[in-house]
Amino acid sequence: MADNLLLEFRNVKKHFAAVEVLRGVNMTVRAGQVTALVGDNGAGKTTLIKCLAGIFQLDEGSIIWEGKPVSIHSPKAAAALGIEFVYQDLALCSNLDIVQNMFLGRERVRGAFLDEESMEDAARETLASLNVTTIKSIRQQVSSLSGGQLQSVAVAKAVMWNSKLVVLDEPTAALGVAQTAQVLALVRRLADRGLGVLLISHNLEDVLKVSDSIAVLRLGVLVAQPGEHAGLLIHPRGRRSQRLRHAARLLQ
Ligand SMILES: Nc1ncnc2c1ncn2[C@@H]1O[C@H](COP(=O)(O)OP(=O)(O)OP(=O)(O)O)[C@@H](O)[C@H]1O
Ligand SMILES: [Mg+2]
Repeated sequence: MADNLLLEFRNVKKHFAAVEVLRGVNMTVRAGQVTALVGDNGAGKTTLIKCLAGIFQLDEGSIIWEGKPVSIHSPKAAAALGIEFVYQDLALCSNLDIVQNMFLGRERVRGAFLDEESMEDAARETLASLNVTTIKSIRQQVSSLSGGQLQSVAVAKAVMWNSKLVVLDEPTAALGVAQTAQVLALVRRLADRGLGVLLISHNLEDVLKVSDSIAVLRLGVLVAQPGEHAGLLIHPRGRRSQRLRHAARLLQ
């Protein structure tokens, strides 16, 4: 087994009342790669990552993290393993500034006071290291940021905690063309820095631009992931048009 294997879902099953949402999902995520998870509305993508975040518990199957089975019972437990999540809507608090958002719930203190200086330095360094350059001040309220800047701050927040895996659920759904390009470039940089990235998206064009591996979830079963499972394959390094056609066919 290659040593960049970070996360594995094995035969994951989850139902809500009579509805079987995940019906035995097998999927892998590797460090230094963007793994995309695509599938129709209601396919179970968000449910799968909520199992990883400890928001839902699995009915059956297991999550293997760095080679060991883990039980994740809360987002805090996921964070302790080095797994961070960026959600489309809940990412940030609009009435707080960038630094306050990035350290929300994990503030640094010196004596009885917040260590504003060290938090500002860390926030500034993280944004700079990710080439997020369009933000004027890290002390501005996030309500004044554009959609692309907001997502960039949310991503920077996720990578500031020595995270090993960043999970993004539809990070570009509400963004325009230029902002989408900005966020996708950021996603790519995370993987190039050696992090694992799990990117959920509806947009196959987006996915093809940045991902090394594409997993297609259909009716609660993973129908393809290149190089990882037998069966249908999408070759990420094949011709772009070919890959797009193939992925689109799998989604039908
Ligand atoms: N808390 C819940 N209780 C009951 N059913 C749920 C719950 N969460 C999700 N579901 C159901 O599970 C199925 C999968 O939902 P999920 O949100 O995982 O899909 P998705 O692939 O993320 O879709 P989308 O692309 O629209 O975000 C849907 O039929 C949904 O109604
Ligand atoms: Mg979803």
